[in-house]
Amino acid sequence: MSTQPPPISDLPVLKLLNVESAYGPIKAIRGVSLQVRRSEIATVLGSNGAGKTTILKTISGIIDPRKGSIEFKGEDITAKDPAVIVQQGLSHVPEGREVFPLLSVHDNLLMGAYTRSDRDGVAREMENVFSYFPILKERASQNAGLLSGGQQQMLAISRALMANPDLILLDEPSLGLSPKLTKEIFEIVVRINRERGTTILLVEQNANMALNASDYGYVLENGRIVMEDTCAHLREKDDIKEFYLGMKEDGVRGERRWKKKKTWR
Ligand SMILES: Nc1ncnc2c1ncn2[C@@H]1O[C@H](COP(=O)(O)OP(=O)(O)OP(=O)(O)O)[C@@H](O)[C@H]1O
Ligand SMILES: [Mg+2]
Repeated sequence: MSTQPPPISDLPVLKLLNVESAYGPIKAIRGVSLQVRRSEIATVLGSNGAGKTTILKTISGIIDPRKGSIEFKGEDITAKDPAVIVQQGLSHVPEGREVFPLLSVHDNLLMGAYTRSDRDGVAREMENVFSYFPILKERASQNAGLLSGGQQQMLAISRALMANPDLILLDEPSLGLSPKLTKEIFEIVVRINRERGTTILLVEQNANMALNASDYGYVLENGRIVMEDTCAHLREKDDIKEFYLGMKEDGVRGERRWKKKKTWR
């Protein structure tokens, strides 16, 4: 199989413009504008409660935004029904996996293909998915609830792939996983992007992993985008290193700089 990545097109496959979403009186995201280009991996970094999950839920139609617009493949999908959005080629891997614990691995995968009527295509898709995650083939007849956390994450990603999406929204795949498993899963996510050309929007607290895997990144704080750049550039910025990568520098006299300084506010 070719490892040559498909070219990243300049055309945005996903475009958010001034999106605001709230839970009752609590505004979770405000004025969020971002773009994801076809065939790239884009990431939104942010700490606990920054609004990452809210962005993804608003894109996939689970939450209706109060303001702003969302365009997918040139069509307005703002506040559309989630099932319609899946049918248009956008799949969401939710935070915490949300596999169906009492269904077999095989049946969980079929649930991911519920929008498809081409049975042969679905069977081929399942074999393709198993090529990324062979353990799922071994466990195909077992209940998903019996899988480990890492295997459930693999299943959740695979279930999204079963719809053969153009874009996958991936919510914190590293959650609760060991560094080794997280690394394995990220490597496969990158392979899926390179080999299938699937565009990916990843949200993560694990900035290190996300910046290494992604092409372009946004930094979200308190519901607002405060910085964006290529991941190569973001990795080199001092405040990103300090706040998100946990690499504090020693001061001039070898003392730790305790006061955190940010350049974006
Ligand atoms: N169902 C809800 N009802 C009320 N407030 C909510 C609800 N879900 C999220 N919030 C609030 O909205 C804000 C953004 O939450 P969100 O879950 O999007 O953050 P996140 O970046 O995904 O955080 P985490 O990294 O912990 O998953 C937080 O202040 C959170 O407390
Ligand atoms: Mg979240």
